[in-house]
Amino acid sequence: MEKFYHIPVLLKESLENLDIKENGVYVDVTCGEGGHSEAILEKLDGKGYLICIDRDKKILEIAKKRLSKFKNVSFYNLRFDDIKLALQQENIKQVDGIIADLGISMFHLKELERGISYTDELSLDMRLDDLEELTAFDVVNKFRENEIADILYRFGEEREARKIAREILSSRPIKNAKGLADLIARVKKERTRNIHPATKSFQALRIFVNKELKILESFIPICADILSENGRLVVISYHSLEDRIVKWGLKELEKEGKGIVCTKKVILPSMEEIRKNKSARSAKMRVFKKVSGVKNE
Ligand SMILES: C[S@@+](CC[C@H](N)C(=O)[O-])C[C@H]1O[C@@H](n2cnc3c(N)ncnc32)[C@H](O)[C@@H]1O
Repeated sequence: MEKFYHIPVLLKESLENLDIKENGVYVDVTCGEGGHSEAILEKLDGKGYLICIDRDKKILEIAKKRLSKFKNVSFYNLRFDDIKLALQQENIKQVDGIIADLGISMFHLKELERGISYTDELSLDMRLDDLEELTAFDVVNKFRENEIADILYRFGEEREARKIAREILSSRPIKNAKGLADLIARVKKERTRNIHPATKSFQALRIFVNKELKILESFIPICADILSENGRLVVISYHSLEDRIVKWGLKELEKEGKGIVCTKKVILPSMEEIRKNKSARSAKMRVFKKVSGVKNE
């Protein structure tokens, strides 16, 4: 049977903005099932080198198999703010380009044992790696009502957070992701066509248990240290909380004279891409280029 992988978002734009040179060294810090990585390796055409990173061991194994025909690639099961550990292992000090395609893959939405899918009856975990002890199950079953409401509001911008938290408290124990998704669907008044009512709450819990925003905040300044002159950082984000961190993180690097933000206007997918791939609809791409000694106000 043919294998269907996650469709890489803004692929053409990613390759163009990484400005790939055949002999260059690149890092895909969110390798996932390897969609962007495969396209980068094809462009490198057997020369250059690619380092693939993902915090999820399981998905990295899929990428390893998919990319096994390439020799100029290595894989690291790390969080991307630990990118320097991979470079140390490879004895590489600087790289020509870094791509971060944030969030989760279709693989995570289909997988029925991690509690990320709304139909998962086996789990309510939501962790992408096992470095954190706290799971989404712990949050919904052990946290106080106001703590749950704050998480849903802060990390999901869920306007009905208080109401959902109240219902969670009175329906405990919440055993699995399906139980939680059904509860939210029952409680929520606001409806958006084609979007599951639990989308914002699931996003909030996932971001919270995986410390996604904190990791992203510390990752951006590290990139400026390891990019070579004219090296590019390309970041694709999928919601406003991530995009805000990327936008201000890149602006700060520019202010510090470490380079320039190439995307004064954010890059968005075309209508054609969104029509073919629904997951691209909220994507936003921002690009930074390292240029030493630029004076910026
Ligand atoms: C949108 S998917 C990437 C899809 C990939 N670009 C492709 O085309 O197949 C995001 C991936 O990033 C990984 N990820 C999320 N946060 C991460 C982090 N802080 N460090 C490393 N990997 C992370 C997830 O496990 C997931 O596999």
